[in-house]
Amino acid sequence: MTPDELIALAVKALENAYAPYSNYRVGAALLCADGTVFTGCNIENSSYGLTNCAERTAIFSAVAAGQTDFAAIAIAASGEPVPFPCGACRQVLSEFCGSGFSVYVQQPGGPTATTLGELLPHAFDLKMKPPLDHR
Ligand code: THU
Repeated sequence: MTPDELIALAVKALENAYAPYSNYRVGAALLCADGTVFTGCNIENSSYGLTNCAERTAIFSAVAAGQTDFAAIAIAASGEPVPFPCGACRQVLSEFCGSGFSVYVQQPGGPTATTLGELLPHAFDLKMKPPLDHR
C-alpha cells in the first residue's frame, strides 16, 4: 500500500465525518502490519469536549477488532488547516506505535511523510520505567 493509496482511503473516510459544528471534516486510514486497513472520521458532539478525532476513531476501531500492530496512518481533511494529528491523538498512537511509525498527512501538492517520533518526542509511557537509580 503506497502513501497515496492510504491517503485516498482517508479521503473516502472523511465522507462519513459528523462535523456540524466545525464543518471541518477529517478522515483517517490506519494500515495494520497484516495489510488490513481501518478507517475513521471525526465525530462531533453538542458537548464539544466529547468530540472524537478521526485518528482515534480509526485506532479504537482497529483495537476493538483485535489489531494492535500498526504500520502507518494517513490523514485527510476537507479543507484548511493541514490535518496534522492533535496532541491527544499522538499520545493514543504512541500507546501502540513506535517512534518509526509512519504518518502521512494530506497536502495540496501530495502527502507529507513524517513519523510519530518526530511528532511526539518523549511520549509518556508507563511501561518505560527507568531503573531506580535513574529516577
Ligand atoms: N480533528 C480530528 O479529527 N483530528 C485531529 O487530529 C484534529 C482535529 C477534528 C476534531 C473536530 O471535529 C474538528 O477536527 C475541529 O477541531
